[in-house]
Amino acid sequence: MGGSSELIFRGHESQPINDDYSPKPNKRWLSFTLNPINYLLREQRLLFTLLGVFIATAFFTLLPSHNTNLNQYDTVPIPYFTQHDSVFPTNHQSNRHVAEVHSFGKVPLGIKRKGLRIVVTGGAGFVGSHLVDRLIARGDSVIVVDNFFTGRKENVMHHFGNPRFELIRHDVVEPLLLEVDQIYHLACPASPVHYKFNPVKTIISNVVGTLNMLGLAKRVGARFLLTSTSEVYGDPLQHPQKETYWGNVNPIGVRSCYDEGKRTAETLTMDYHRGAGVEVRIARIFNTYGPRMCLDDGRVVSNFVAQALRKEPMTVYGDGKQTRSFQYVSDLVEGLMRLMEGEHVGPFNLGNPGEFTMLELAKVVQETIDPDASIEYRPNTEDDPHKRKPDISRAKELLGWEPKVDLRKGLPLMVSDFRQRIFGDHKEGSTVA
Ligand SMILES: NC(=O)c1ccc[n+]([C@@H]2O[C@H](COP(=O)([O-])OP(=O)(O)OC[C@H]3O[C@@H](n4cnc5c(N)ncnc54)[C@H](O)[C@@H]3O)[C@@H](O)[C@H]2O)c1
Repeated sequence: MGGSSELIFRGHESQPINDDYSPKPNKRWLSFTLNPINYLLREQRLLFTLLGVFIATAFFTLLPSHNTNLNQYDTVPIPYFTQHDSVFPTNHQSNRHVAEVHSFGKVPLGIKRKGLRIVVTGGAGFVGSHLVDRLIARGDSVIVVDNFFTGRKENVMHHFGNPRFELIRHDVVEPLLLEVDQIYHLACPASPVHYKFNPVKTIISNVVGTLNMLGLAKRVGARFLLTSTSEVYGDPLQHPQKETYWGNVNPIGVRSCYDEGKRTAETLTMDYHRGAGVEVRIARIFNTYGPRMCLDDGRVVSNFVAQALRKEPMTVYGDGKQTRSFQYVSDLVEGLMRLMEGEHVGPFNLGNPGEFTMLELAKVVQETIDPDASIEYRPNTEDDPHKRKPDISRAKELLGWEPKVDLRKGLPLMVSDFRQRIFGDHKEGSTVA
């Protein structure tokens, strides 16, 4: 019982008051207000104060003046849009942003400023590999990202060993983080044979792949260029097609995975531009031909050339009176680069306005390869557009661009590449457009 009595509350009993005890702080504050110098000199306070000043000075002096780009877009005002600008903004603010993105911080005296770091998705493909050649020749560092679905290492292997060239096997439907200044986004199966092979994968590549690359552009403050297509006009009710035309596209047809995929990619691109201030460019590419095209991808120029070289009849679908315009690949690459470096978002038609029926094209192929090449007619494919011809006045006016190589000049260059690849006396990748 004696032990438990210790737990009884005794708070009501008066406590002895110890006048000698007083808590520490009062005294110190008092001494600081009375004699600050004494206060500083005691307990090595001065030493610690000086040490703090020294560390802060060293930190701010040695900190590099450039930032890592990661949050650069946050500091950039979002370009405004007027009614016209929604198609064609002249974004001077954005240019300032690019100047910031392209500045490499303090470049020590005597060290030459480096070229740009550029990603080309789909860079092992037909158009991409020619673009890579031009960028490397200009002095830039290029990273090709490609899953080799339709592209080939042979198209870029002449750059292997160049320290300014890198090749990454990667599917753009998966995210990727790279520190770059510009992104040319080409990765997408581009010919009917390939995109109809796996339509779901095609639309996913267009939507998720474009989303991933826009996300990368936003994160690192890079400028982003989308290679869209004249297919966004569908079977056009306007002729020739201007960029302001909204198209006549079947949303549920066999070609929709490509056409609607690219339309969605354009929408995403503009929404990232308006919503997140990402610097974007949109090219609408019309039929392009040249060396390194896939031999049997179902596109009409490669089909006719490969068939004529193999002494097979050239396949014409329908009555052969449907028209297309054919652009040589070096003209397209020039247009893409001008668009990327220029001030305008677009979209821009990039194509050759020279219009040919399928039968006229077959005639040019006969003249170039074999006058005896025959024609075989087959029923037309579903949703094949009847007419296609770009109006390129905007590209002429705002990019100072127009195609230079006509079909009769460009076709022989492609034929010699195809001849070498089909008959085997060829050094892969060596073809120059
Ligand atoms: N050539 C034309 O006439 C034409 C016309 C209009 C638009 N375009 C567009 O231009 C771009 C290039 O076309 P191209 O003619 O060079 O075609 P291509 O098939 O030769 O090149 C496409 C490249 O993208 C790669 N690729 C495809 N899906 C990918 C993915 N998910 N991840 C990574 N890489 C992938 C392929 O392996 C290939 O190297 C395409 O976006 C196409 O839609 C081309």
